[in-house]
Amino acid sequence: MSSRPDSCEGSILILGAAQGIGAAVAGKLAETAVARKLVLADINVEKAQALATDLQASGVHALTRRVDLGDTATIADLVEEFDDVDRLALVASILEHHPTLDTTPEMFERVMRVNMIGSFYAAQAVARRLIQRQREGAICAVTSIGARHPQRDLAAYCASKAALTSALRVLGLSTSAHGVRINFVARGATRTAMMRTDPQTLIRTLPILIGRVNEPEDVAGAVVFMLSPESRMITLRERAVRAMSAACGIRSVAQINQTFELYVL
Ligand SMILES: NC(=O)c1ccc[n+]([C@@H]2O[C@H](COP(=O)([O-])OP(=O)(O)OC[C@H]3O[C@@H](n4cnc5c(N)ncnc54)[C@H](O)[C@@H]3O)[C@@H](O)[C@H]2O)c1
Repeated sequence: MSSRPDSCEGSILILGAAQGIGAAVAGKLAETAVARKLVLADINVEKAQALATDLQASGVHALTRRVDLGDTATIADLVEEFDDVDRLALVASILEHHPTLDTTPEMFERVMRVNMIGSFYAAQAVARRLIQRQREGAICAVTSIGARHPQRDLAAYCASKAALTSALRVLGLSTSAHGVRINFVARGATRTAMMRTDPQTLIRTLPILIGRVNEPEDVAGAVVFMLSPESRMITLRERAVRAMSAACGIRSVAQINQTFELYVL
């Protein structure tokens, strides 16, 4: 399947592009949309710049900007500067383990501010601008299995992912008729800095049907699809990239298919 998001002319904004999935999304987009402008935004702009330099060396129009999703002023500045964005990949988030019985409001607020409020605000700002410009566009948020299933000591993280999904679905009700689609990629364990457990341990202990964890590129492929014209009739949908369902103790493919929309790319 070719997923070419190059039928539109504006910029593609990737939030959380410095490493992991965001960097893989940038790499895949660069392969398919060489003539387009990629804006690699991250709180770690030095690392994003290293990626941009690599992409520029292969002829890709890649720029970097610092953004802190915990600070809505930086998001507003970014969207104002790049007011031709017609594709948004919302990838950045923070994951903090807090013993659940001791999680404080401050811990909760920090995670919600980045993963939920800032991410929603970015999508809202891009969508509003697209509608003002009467342009079609696509937004794809990377969410998590934790949005649906409890994960130990991750109350704030799981809640933030569930809340973001819910808020973006509501936003999509207002934007889809204007041609601004909002979709989700939910992923299981993926080999990035965020994955704290050794992959072999996960494979041994969880019912991972395909005997490996995701690589960032597996998830990036699904994100690029959701941003591409191939998904132009898809909105408010979730594409799952995981070959397991451990949290529910589900053991068979039939059970998984009943419970989730399961796509293993
Ligand atoms: N790795 C996994 O196993 C896993 C599982 C489920 C969901 N996810 C989700 O996938 C997405 C990508 O995760 P990853 O594994 O690539 O993580 P990662 O930690 O490797 O990358 C996250 C990126 O977000 C950036 N970031 C963090 N805080 C920011 C802020 N305040 N403002 C702007 N940028 C900020 C970081 O600098 C980093 O570049 C996240 O939304 C995460 O919740 C990851």
